[in-house]
Amino acid sequence: MMSAYLMRSGLNPSRQFSAAASTFFKCSKATLQKSAASTSFSKNSQASVSLSRFPGLRTITTGNNTGIVGQRAEPASNPEGIVSACFQRISLLGDEWMLEARWKDGFRSKYPYIWLRDNCQCPSCFCPSSASRRVLLRDLDPSIVPVSFTTSEDSGDLEILWSDGHRGLYMSDWLRERSFSEDTRERRRLIRSPPRTLWGSDILSDLPVANFHDVLREDEALLELIQKLEALGLVIVQDTPLQQEAIFTLTNRLGYIKQTHYGVTFVVKSRVSPNNLAYTADSLDMHSDIPYFEYKPGIQLLHCISQAKGTGGSNNLVDSFNVARQLQELDLEKFQILTTVPVDFIDHGVEEDGLNFYALAKHPLIRLDKNGEVQAVTLNQMVRDSFFPVSVEKVRPWYEAMVTYYRMLLHPNNVISYKMKEGYILVFDNQRVLHGREGYLVTEGTRELHGCYWDWDMVRSCRRVLQRKLGILKT
Ligand code: OGA
Ligand code: ZN
Ligand code: ZN
Repeated sequence: MMSAYLMRSGLNPSRQFSAAASTFFKCSKATLQKSAASTSFSKNSQASVSLSRFPGLRTITTGNNTGIVGQRAEPASNPEGIVSACFQRISLLGDEWMLEARWKDGFRSKYPYIWLRDNCQCPSCFCPSSASRRVLLRDLDPSIVPVSFTTSEDSGDLEILWSDGHRGLYMSDWLRERSFSEDTRERRRLIRSPPRTLWGSDILSDLPVANFHDVLREDEALLELIQKLEALGLVIVQDTPLQQEAIFTLTNRLGYIKQTHYGVTFVVKSRVSPNNLAYTADSLDMHSDIPYFEYKPGIQLLHCISQAKGTGGSNNLVDSFNVARQLQELDLEKFQILTTVPVDFIDHGVEEDGLNFYALAKHPLIRLDKNGEVQAVTLNQMVRDSFFPVSVEKVRPWYEAMVTYYRMLLHPNNVISYKMKEGYILVFDNQRVLHGREGYLVTEGTRELHGCYWDWDMVRSCRRVLQRKLGILKT
C-alpha cells in the first residue's frame, strides 16, 4: 500500500523528505546571514511569522522561533476539491497547544501539537511502504511543544523542531487535506461509504445491471458495479458463462471470497437430505443469509446456471432499510422494539465433507448505528433460535412488531419478484436486501445456482483502489 503522497509524486518519499530537509537547511543558512527581525518566543506564547509583515523576506529568525514562508505558483484544484497551495503564515497558539496554518488562498486550520508529533511524516516516524506510523505510543508525550519551525522555500513544507529534540516534517498539501473541518470529515465519510439510495418495487423497471465481460475487462465497469452495489444494494451481472468458475473469475477481479461452513462456494439445488432449506425446492421466506454469524457476510452472490422451467423459482427481493424507515414513521414503538430486542440465530449440522458446525449469534432485527441510521437488518425465519434471550413479557410485542414489519416488506410497493435467467449473477447486500424464493417443481427440470459471499471491507477497498487508479481519489 502506498501513501497518498507517494501516489501523487511517484517518488521515493525518503528522497522527497531529504530534498525538503536540505532546502530547509539551505534556507536556514541564508536566514542566519540576513537575519533581520527578531521577536521573543516562548513555548506557550503566541508566535507567528508572515510574509506581509516582512515584505521581500522569505526567511526570518525570531529568537528560537524560525519561520520561513515560501512562495509558490497559484493554487490548483484537484478532483477531491483540495486546493494545492503553500502556507502564508504559521502561528503557534501556545494557550491552545495548537499550531495554526494559514494558506495563501485564505484557508486556515489548527493542528494540535500532539497530533502533529504523532503524525510526523519523516522516514523515521512514518514507513511509506507499509503506510504505517512508526512512532511508538510509549514515546508519545501529550505535553510536547514546538521549539521552532520553518517552512521550506521551494515546497512550502513545514519542519518543526519539537521539545523532544525530534525534527518533524509535514507537507503543506498533506496538512491541508487533514484539516480538522466538517468538510474533511464529510469527504472522508464519502470515501468510507457513499450514501445509499433507498428503493421500492419501481426499481423493477430499471434494475441495476452490469456485463460480466465488461467488468472483467474495464476498471470503469467494475467501479460502476461496486458503486451500484453500495448505492442500491443490488446488481445483476449478465452474460456470465454457465460455468462454476465464473464466480471465482468475477471475485478475482475484486479480491477474495468469504468462506463459511457451507464451503468456499456452494451449490443451491434440491437435495435428498438438505442441511439447509435453500437446498430444497420449497418457497423460502425473505431472509438474510448466515445470520448465525456475528459478522455475517456483507454481500451474497447467486449465479444462475439453470433455472426452473415452470412458474416457480423466482426470487423476491426487498430493500429492508427502506421499509425500516417506513415502520419508523408508521409505528415508532414497534420500530424501537425491533431495534433493541436481541434475537438468537442458530445453525448446527454436518456439511457434505463431514465438517460439523454449530454457529450461534445474536442480533437485533434492525441494527442502528450511533447516528440512528439503519446499519443492518437480520431476519431469517428458518434459523431463528427457539431460545429467545429476553424476559417473557417482551416476547409477544416482539412478534407483533416483527410480523408488522414483515407484512410491510411484502407490500407490493416494496418487494419485487424477479426470475433470474441463466447466466445472471444476483449480487446483493446481505445486510440490507432480503431475498426469498418461490417454490418450484423438481419434475420441471433442474434448478441450479452457485453461490458465494463477499465482505464489504474487501469490496469497498477495491472501490477505493479503482478510484485511486482512475485518478478520482487522491488520498
Ligand atoms: C440461498 C437462497 C435462493 C434461491 O441459497 O441462500 O436463499 O433462489 N437461495 O434458491
Ligand atoms: Zn519524524
Ligand atoms: Zn438465502
